[in-house]
Amino acid sequence: MQRLEISDLITAVDPHSGRRLPVRRAEAVRLLRESGDERAAGIVAGLPADEDGVLDPRAVDRLLISVHTELQRLSEELRMGERLVHLLGPLFTAIRETSGQPGPYRLVDVGCGLGYLVRWLAATDALGADVELVGVDLDAALVGEAGRLARAEGLDCRFVHGNAFDLPEAATVYVSTGVLHHFRGPALAEFFRAQAASPALAFCHFDIAATGLAPIGAWVFHRARMRHPLGRHDGVVSARRAHSDGTLLRAAAVPGIRPLLYEPRGAVNPFCTTLRPVLGVRPHLEAPLRRALGRAARRLVGPEHLAEAVR
Ligand SMILES: C[S@@+](CC[C@H](N)C(=O)[O-])C[C@H]1O[C@@H](n2cnc3c(N)ncnc32)[C@H](O)[C@@H]1O
Repeated sequence: MQRLEISDLITAVDPHSGRRLPVRRAEAVRLLRESGDERAAGIVAGLPADEDGVLDPRAVDRLLISVHTELQRLSEELRMGERLVHLLGPLFTAIRETSGQPGPYRLVDVGCGLGYLVRWLAATDALGADVELVGVDLDAALVGEAGRLARAEGLDCRFVHGNAFDLPEAATVYVSTGVLHHFRGPALAEFFRAQAASPALAFCHFDIAATGLAPIGAWVFHRARMRHPLGRHDGVVSARRAHSDGTLLRAAAVPGIRPLLYEPRGAVNPFCTTLRPVLGVRPHLEAPLRRALGRAARRLVGPEHLAEAVR
C-alpha cells in the first residue's frame, strides 16, 4: 500500500481561499494505520490536540517550520541553487532572445516552503536584475517564515501566501523543488495543464529521481541530518513516492508545451542522481534553449528519446 507523508495529513488548507481547516488527530492516525504505517500513526498520536481532538495548529506550525529548517540543509548540500541556475540561466537567455521585449520577467516558486531557493537566487543575483523572484505557498506559517528570513537578510524577493496558480500577475517561469510527488494520478497532469493554460513561457520542476537507491539515500541523509522523527519519516516516504521519468514526461505532455527531462534515469550514475528536473517550454524556445545550454543540451531529452517513457 502507498505510504503517506505525515506533513500532508496534519495541516489542511482550502486551496482557493487559503483558509486553515481543522484537522482531527484521530482521523490522521486512522489514515496512517490503514496505510500500514504504525510508526507514523504513533508520531501523530503524540502531537498536542484540544479537547475536541483537533490538532493544535500553532504546535503543528512550529513543528513544520523546524522540520523544514532542517530540510533546508538538503537543498544546501545538493546545491539546488546552482543546479537551478545551470538550467534557468540558459532558459532566461532564450527568453530574452525571443521575447522581443525587455523584462521584467517573473520567476514563481510553487510551494516554496521556507523559500530557500528564492532567497538563494536573490542573495546571489544569479538570474539577473530583470528577473523578479516570487515564492508562493498554501501554508501560511512556512511562507510567513520565508518572508521573515528574507527581510532579516535584506533580500530583494517576495513571498505570497496562497495558490501559485491564482496570483494576480502571471509568471514567466514556474519552478519548484520537492513538490511533484505530492501530486498523484490526474492531479499531476492538472498541475502541468494549469501552467500551460497560463501565459507562462516555461516551467522547471525538480523532484527526487525514482532510482532504486533513492529510499536508501533518503534514509541515510535524513538520519544524519534531521532530528525530528516526522522529518525522518517523511523524507523516506517522499523518496518512495517519487515519480518515474516516464510518468513525469507523460504528465507534462500537455497542449502548448514541449516536455523535456534533464538527466533522465539510465543516462547518469544512480549514486549521483538525487533530484532532477522535468521542464516544459513553449515549442519556439527549445532550439534557443539548447543553443544557450551548449554541450549540456545533450542531457536534455524529450519523450521520443526515452522509449519506455511513452509506453
Ligand atoms: C514538500 S513542501 C516543499 C517545500 C519547498 N519547496 C522545499 O523544497 O523545501 C510542498 C509545499 O507545496 C505547497 N503547495 C502545494 N501546491 C501548491 C500550490 N498550488 N500553490 C502554492 N503552494 C503549494 C504545500 O503547501 C507545501 O508547503
